[in-house]
Amino acid sequence: MTNFTKLMAAGAVACLPLGSPALADGTVEVLHWWTSGGEAKALGELKSAFEAQDGTWTDSPIAGGGGDAAMTALRARVVAGNPPTAVQLKGPGIQEWAEQGALNDVQHVATDEHWDDVLPPVLAEIMKYDGKYVAAPVNIHRVDWMWGNPDLLEQAGVTQMPTTWDAFNAAADKLMAAGITPLAHGGQPWQDATLFEDVVLGVGGADFYRSALVDLDAAALRSDTMVASFDQLRKLRGYVDPNFSGRDWNLATAMVMRGEAAFQIMGDWAKGEFLAAGKVPGEDFTCTPTPGNGFVLNADSFTFFKVSGEPNLRGQQVLASLIMSPDFQKAFNLAKGSIPARTDVPLDDFDICAQRSHEDLLKATENGTLVPSMAHEMAVPRSVRGEFLDLVTEFFNSDMSSQDAVNRLADAAARAM
Ligand code: BGC
Repeated sequence: MTNFTKLMAAGAVACLPLGSPALADGTVEVLHWWTSGGEAKALGELKSAFEAQDGTWTDSPIAGGGGDAAMTALRARVVAGNPPTAVQLKGPGIQEWAEQGALNDVQHVATDEHWDDVLPPVLAEIMKYDGKYVAAPVNIHRVDWMWGNPDLLEQAGVTQMPTTWDAFNAAADKLMAAGITPLAHGGQPWQDATLFEDVVLGVGGADFYRSALVDLDAAALRSDTMVASFDQLRKLRGYVDPNFSGRDWNLATAMVMRGEAAFQIMGDWAKGEFLAAGKVPGEDFTCTPTPGNGFVLNADSFTFFKVSGEPNLRGQQVLASLIMSPDFQKAFNLAKGSIPARTDVPLDDFDICAQRSHEDLLKATENGTLVPSMAHEMAVPRSVRGEFLDLVTEFFNSDMSSQDAVNRLADAAARAM
């Protein structure tokens, strides 16, 4: 047992309400898609803390970045009447499952531990159904990040990090001229959509992003700004290597680490990969927000499914309490690349990228430029997201014009609503 898990065991038991039964022997089956190096390390913090309390943990990993395969597996399990105890699930998906009566609540843990006082209201709302917590948030990820290899950038004479997409294109052209692949990318729908939404924020700004990708406003979806966003996505397509198709996101991160590509545009779970490989931010790799103003939010959480039987119910309560404990939130997020969901966890031991994320999050909250990720299931129902991902991927892998893409995007939104 590590010092941390011992501490967690002591801490979690100590924060259970007085008079509550000993919750030492809970059982959980946890369905998740955290299978890359950094992800597995972060999840290991939760597993070992749970086991340190004599809980029984069954791991159900479903590989596949972005979680699309995991969500398909989840549906099959629920339909078969055999849901997992806790599932890595987020955004509107939580509400969709709650509406179907598929979830248990952990409200009494939340009340005893005053979750409402330590979570940003925007996150707390996502975790609740009918006023009760049915999920517990572990982190705040930022999607609009650009990871860079400083040696390659220097080699190509890119001395300033681009803050506009035009400047990004100029830097990418310099890299190409120096024989360096500008952008490491994995051609999977959710990764294409990650590029797309970061570009939409940069090209159109936060209000435009919200109108188009959250409110699905037809005028925004059909606008010239959306055409310009697809034009920029087309430019990015020209900056990836020929073998991008189907590549996993963590392999794209490894290309930046190994000096095979200069940039990757990806959420800060990519930082978890750099850290797991022993790389140091600011020295071995750079972190810069993608061109634009704002913050694209993606928060992971565990949702509690309708299981019965004392060990399972206990397992859900212990897990909920552990997830929200400040020590766990610190240890988990140091490994995962994100920042804690709790607002009261000191960030002194976090690196410069996490500090920047936190500062920008506060700024974005104040000036109204915090937007939820469409690609990462924070913004729109799954049906709409599915249509958008299909279209964006088809655009990325064909010679579809930006105008056709815009027309089809707007049609898809209308169809899915
Ligand atoms: C999740 C992250 C995960 C990433 C890659 C995102 O949707 O929020 O936790 O690391 O997908 O799998």
